[in-house]
Amino acid sequence: MRILGISASPRQGQGSFLALLAALEAARQAVPGLETSLVELADKDINGCLACGHCAKGLACSQSDDFPGLLGELTAPGLAGLILATPVYFGGMTSQAKAFLDRAVILRRNGFRLRDRVGGVIAVGGFRNGGQELAIQGIHAAMLTQDMIIVGDGMPTSHFGGTCFSGGPGGMAVDEFGLTTARGLGRRVSELAAKIWG
Ligand SMILES: Cc1cc2nc3c(=O)[nH]c(=O)nc-3n(C[C@H](O)[C@H](O)[C@H](O)COP(=O)(O)O)c2cc1C
Repeated sequence: MRILGISASPRQGQGSFLALLAALEAARQAVPGLETSLVELADKDINGCLACGHCAKGLACSQSDDFPGLLGELTAPGLAGLILATPVYFGGMTSQAKAFLDRAVILRRNGFRLRDRVGGVIAVGGFRNGGQELAIQGIHAAMLTQDMIIVGDGMPTSHFGGTCFSGGPGGMAVDEFGLTTARGLGRRVSELAAKIWG
């Protein structure tokens, strides 16, 4: 059983990456034997969906950027959950996150490959209340259209997911409240994934 984490920041190793690392570590601690992997979109070239219809004919995309290379991870047996971490950009997700989610239409069109996978979202803003919940909602909508099962950060904080703040002294690494919600999300994703897929 495996949980895939995707960081949709254009910057490698920054706030979204750190929050995602914390979530995946908590996921592994909560469910012994769980495997996790982490992909950063920062070093990938992923264009928007062209709506060409090619993927309606089979599991192949007409574009030859880095997205088709992610399909292996997304369709391999054992995938039980997906955690997407995004910076907040103007109250929403990054263009990297949106391009990834739009291109993932190929999974919906080819047998709903993400169906019943547990989905969770982390949003990292430069402001404490900079639109984290709005960014999370937009990604939840995409996950729902894939027939995924979305969860939040679980008890005791139990709201919408990882809501993180990178703008204080010390940045994301010392945002204890945000890290608590990211870890809670990781636990929630893995515990529910284990009930469904374990
Ligand atoms: C174009 C742009 C728009 C941004 N808009 C917001 C925003 O609406 N709310 C917010 O809290 N932070 C905003 N930020 C700040 C980023 O969310 C913040 O720096 C975050 O830590 C970036 O994530 P990263 O460290 O994973 O790259 C914005 C940054 C950029 C570059």
